[in-house]
Amino acid sequence: MTQAQDLEAILTPPVVPVLTIAETTDAVALARALAEGGLTVLEITLRTTAALQAIRDIAAAVPDAVVGAGTIRTPEDAEAAIAAGAHFLVSPGITPRIMEAAQRWRVPFLPGVATASEAMALADFGYAFLKFFPAEQSGGIAALKAWAPPLYDIRFCPTGGINAANAADYLALPNVVCVGGSWVAPANMVAEKDWSGITKLAETAAVLR
Ligand code: 3PG
Repeated sequence: MTQAQDLEAILTPPVVPVLTIAETTDAVALARALAEGGLTVLEITLRTTAALQAIRDIAAAVPDAVVGAGTIRTPEDAEAAIAAGAHFLVSPGITPRIMEAAQRWRVPFLPGVATASEAMALADFGYAFLKFFPAEQSGGIAALKAWAPPLYDIRFCPTGGINAANAADYLALPNVVCVGGSWVAPANMVAEKDWSGITKLAETAAVLR
């Protein structure tokens, strides 16, 4: 299977919640709330000290969820995430060290790009499914439409600045497989442990396409 086929087999819901978890104790309840609403594929960003334990806990306790790790910036981040049980890895960009190490990773990798040149460089390495980051700030829907003819064999998961108001427009594009975003798990709702409210947000997002 190619990188794109491996990832497309996993990233089936239209929206991938991008979760920056402050308290490990919230992780399982949050994952359950999102999965109950139909968002079963989750990206936990490696930006907090709670992140790796959150991945471990979700992988162990929420069989309905497929948990991945985001904010992979170094090979060491990737190794720690894989050891914690991450099923896929997401990076905001690429580095030579990451490209070299990624050949050995046992889980699918969604690398981030913001330009046509970066997308072409990754396609050369066999990556035809890319995160477009930060999507809104880098041209958004207009950029994806402009890339579609020349980058005809590359598909994207735009992330960054996507929300309930613009997600459906992204998902309507033929070169968009799914979108990522934090809007389905707002920090205030997590702090208030409003799990039923988060399930409702997930239900709305899960039928956007
Ligand atoms: C990411 O972490 O991948 C993005 O910053 C999420 O962006 P958002 O908070 O604008 O959805």
